[in-house]
Amino acid sequence: MKSHRHIIAFFVTCIIIGSAVGFGLAWYSHKKSDTQSLPEKITQIIPTIVPVTNPSARIIFVGDLMVDRGVENSVKNNLSGDFGRLFEHLPLFKQADGVFLNLEGPVTTQGPNVGSRFSFAMDEKILPALADNNIKMVSFANNHVGDRSNTGFISTLANLDRNNIPYAGAGKNKAEASTVKTFTANGLIIGFIGCSDVGPDWLKATDTAAGQILCSDPSLATYISQARESVDFLVFSAHWGVEYNPKTTRQKTLAYTAIDAGADMVIGHHPHVVQETEYYKDKFIAYSLGNFIFDQYFSDATMQGLLVDAVIEKHSIKSTSLKIIELDKTGNKYQPKEIRDATDADFLKKGVVTAQTCPAAKDATINKWLEPVGPDMDIGNYIPKDLIPLNNRINVQTTASCLTETAANALITMEQDMSDAGLKIIMTSGFRSRNTQETIHDSSTTTLEAANDPTKYPSVAKPGRSEHQLGTALDMKSGSDPAFSYDNFKNSTEYAWLVTNAYKYGFIQSYKTGTESITGYIPESWHWRYVGIDHAKAIHDQGITTYEYLKALKKKAQ
Ligand code: DAL
Ligand code: ZN
Repeated sequence: MKSHRHIIAFFVTCIIIGSAVGFGLAWYSHKKSDTQSLPEKITQIIPTIVPVTNPSARIIFVGDLMVDRGVENSVKNNLSGDFGRLFEHLPLFKQADGVFLNLEGPVTTQGPNVGSRFSFAMDEKILPALADNNIKMVSFANNHVGDRSNTGFISTLANLDRNNIPYAGAGKNKAEASTVKTFTANGLIIGFIGCSDVGPDWLKATDTAAGQILCSDPSLATYISQARESVDFLVFSAHWGVEYNPKTTRQKTLAYTAIDAGADMVIGHHPHVVQETEYYKDKFIAYSLGNFIFDQYFSDATMQGLLVDAVIEKHSIKSTSLKIIELDKTGNKYQPKEIRDATDADFLKKGVVTAQTCPAAKDATINKWLEPVGPDMDIGNYIPKDLIPLNNRINVQTTASCLTETAANALITMEQDMSDAGLKIIMTSGFRSRNTQETIHDSSTTTLEAANDPTKYPSVAKPGRSEHQLGTALDMKSGSDPAFSYDNFKNSTEYAWLVTNAYKYGFIQSYKTGTESITGYIPESWHWRYVGIDHAKAIHDQGITTYEYLKALKKKAQ
């Protein structure tokens, strides 16, 4: 049946086209003098009838590339020192007409390290590898571009120039940084305007100084509308949003502003996780592509990124195909490995996936972080201010893993140093509300045992009396222990490391062996409390319990 219909449709189409050509020819010979031959007439008429195919180009967009730190180690240890091998499972890069990515830091040996372990500088060998793998444009406007000062920034621009890789959002002065950067694909001029919405502000380009464009630049819309005049397709690239979180209203506002000003596509990066995509006025927006190559081993969401495979035409998008690139986790390899179609579950959307919020303080003026919390101290319904979620930042067992911002940052730093030392912890419990503490307390067997036997101690505090309610205490397990048992933690290499080092990050074990009669609880190798580096060092040096130390501190202050 189907093939019959096709044949009939084919003949009907032939008759229609044939009649159109016939009519066209008759009309044409009537209008024109008869000095032309029939073939000449046909060649003049055909272009007016047969539709001309628009030129198109296939462009691939991927997110953050950072090949310092863990990735550099992996290239040395797993990929025979060859940065090009990071791309060995990505043949589609070379099949496309060009690839874009965000270069998350300087590529240089120049300039001082301006910060901590989060200051990056990548090996210059990455640049020929990018050029070989069809990277035709990078974004160089982001929060890491100044990690080796102005010197490293300027040196990176020179290194990119030498490798013929244009950079969006950056330049030797403001005029250059705000001017559209282009490459040509299949005759189409593809342009990029880039900016960083997450600083560093000190590295913003000026009339005389090299730097980046900030998304807060009041002339941003003008840069975009001017850029549109000289290109066939304009991409607005923005480093924006909040790390590990769903898209913000600011991202949406900026994206719409860019499209209203003339952008044909908006490509976002920075949050390290994939955020949703949408079409606005027929223009495509990817709010965050997440990581492309990065060493954020601590969660599935940061070990994958979005790849947008787009076919574009002059100022229009013909198609977009969304894929997920997964990084190889085995042996901390960080090499893009699996490519699969993206599903709804891959996008971090508000209220849908792993986004998590923490409770807000009832009274933000009250701060009990140095309160000696023991069986005799009731802190009631206290909720500390500045609780933030740890999920997607370190390994956590449940999504309900909040700590105060200061404690969380100290834990992240400590966890990363542990990881560098080959150790793995999993956070199993952080902030607990009074109600949560009540539930845990009421289901605890050690509580029952202690209630029936005065020689025994419980392992769970009564509601209102737990350090967990301060948002500064956490429980953890060893990631290298397949049984994941609390009891095993005291025998783990992770625990041994914590005993020697945790105080340097501000953490102290609250319930040590032999202190039961002072603290009121059984020894807990897994329970550590943040008290700040100075107090932690004092407690460590004095060899007393946190409870005794804080009680004395409180008495002194009274
Ligand atoms: N496990 C400790 C004592 C708590 O419940 O806070
Ligand atoms: Zn605990």
